[in-house]
Amino acid sequence: MTPNGPSPDSYRRRRETLLARLNDAVLFLPPVEEARYSNDVHYRYRPDSDTRYLSGFEEPCSLMLVARDCESKGFSMFVRERDPQSETWTGRRAGLEGARETYGADNAWALEQGEEKLEQALSGARTLYYGFGRSAGSDSAMLELVKRVNAGRPRSGLAPLVLHDSSELMSEMRLFKSDEEAELMRRSCAIAVQAHIAVLEDLRPGHSESDIEAGVEYRFRRGGCSGPAYGTIAAAGNNATVLHYTSNLGTPGQGDLVLLDAGGEYGGYAADITSTFPMSADWTDAQAELYDLVLAAQRSALAQVKPGSSCDSVHQAALGVLVQGMHDLGLLEGSDTSASLESGAYQPYYMHRTSHWLGMDVHDVGSYRDNEGPRPLAAGMVLTVEPGIYVRRDSEAPERFRGIGIRLEDDVLVTADGSENLTAALPRDRDEISRIRRAALS
Ligand code: GLY
Ligand code: MN
Ligand code: MN
Repeated sequence: MTPNGPSPDSYRRRRETLLARLNDAVLFLPPVEEARYSNDVHYRYRPDSDTRYLSGFEEPCSLMLVARDCESKGFSMFVRERDPQSETWTGRRAGLEGARETYGADNAWALEQGEEKLEQALSGARTLYYGFGRSAGSDSAMLELVKRVNAGRPRSGLAPLVLHDSSELMSEMRLFKSDEEAELMRRSCAIAVQAHIAVLEDLRPGHSESDIEAGVEYRFRRGGCSGPAYGTIAAAGNNATVLHYTSNLGTPGQGDLVLLDAGGEYGGYAADITSTFPMSADWTDAQAELYDLVLAAQRSALAQVKPGSSCDSVHQAALGVLVQGMHDLGLLEGSDTSASLESGAYQPYYMHRTSHWLGMDVHDVGSYRDNEGPRPLAAGMVLTVEPGIYVRRDSEAPERFRGIGIRLEDDVLVTADGSENLTAALPRDRDEISRIRRAALS
């Protein structure tokens, strides 16, 4: 069970909720295989988030949920069997007994028996919710299995089995965070905020982007995280104009801004925050103007996070401020803000959306639109608010803005009557950041 993660009771309640929705359907999640780093060396295993959401199990496994009366009724786990030889090399396995006793499985079988038991469970079932995309091998075996099952249906008089992506059920559940999940995300965010503040306080001339990366990731682990929730972006100067820069091999110059996008995973829940600050205690006029613009855009966007609003409204709020500012600062010609919004003329400097869902995955599951249009925000959803401006060194912008990348990213929980900024403790005010940097450098 994930250290610091949800309680065993939560996993049981989630399964019960799902079982109550299944009726005569079957849900099957195949295993995510270990990813090979080289030869016989593997990356640290990270289970698929749906599997972990329903079980807390962190070894390769398949899960099946069946509500109908049959041999595999309830919650079935297909896990690696105990094996002293393998366990000597790679650590303890829960095995079949552990699956039942620690993880609450009603039925536990060897990993290899998944397909056979699923085929049995499908006799009489009308619908299969299957977890696509975990492995190409499982996906094609599944399509064969459905073909086989349906080939026999005309003789049995049963309607054909209909195949659905399990994300139809899982994503909706995961999109709305329980109080316990919100508390885990508060913790995850608090650890990330402290790690960012520590960088502000520790960074010295000569430190490299990889020093910054190592510093935040050390603090994630010290704080109880399993590690970073995504590849840390520690980008100085022009490197910050690359949205997902992760090589982190440069060394900030004295006059550079540093963009740090880093968050850890605590109890299975991600933080995703970005701060931008000067290597020295001072800002050039161009840096200050762009920073203040992004901060104003972020504040405007944050004010839109409330029930009934949408990720789209949050984005439009940020965009309105950014595009007006781009005209005021001469990044965009003329003064026709509406025309620039319409034509997308701002996109060389702001090319991403302002928000994404956040949860067990950094880019978490859940749809952004429903049949009516942009999906209304509702209590329990968590999203990022992350406007930015990126002026590449080789851009057409006025010279003084070139080579500056700025993003400000907070994580926000939608509440019944508004929102809670889970990362509000990050210093955002430019003068406050300068004070911290000055104290650090003195
Ligand atoms: N850290 C990736 C993102 O902000 O979406
Ligand atoms: Mn993000
Ligand atoms: Mn981020």
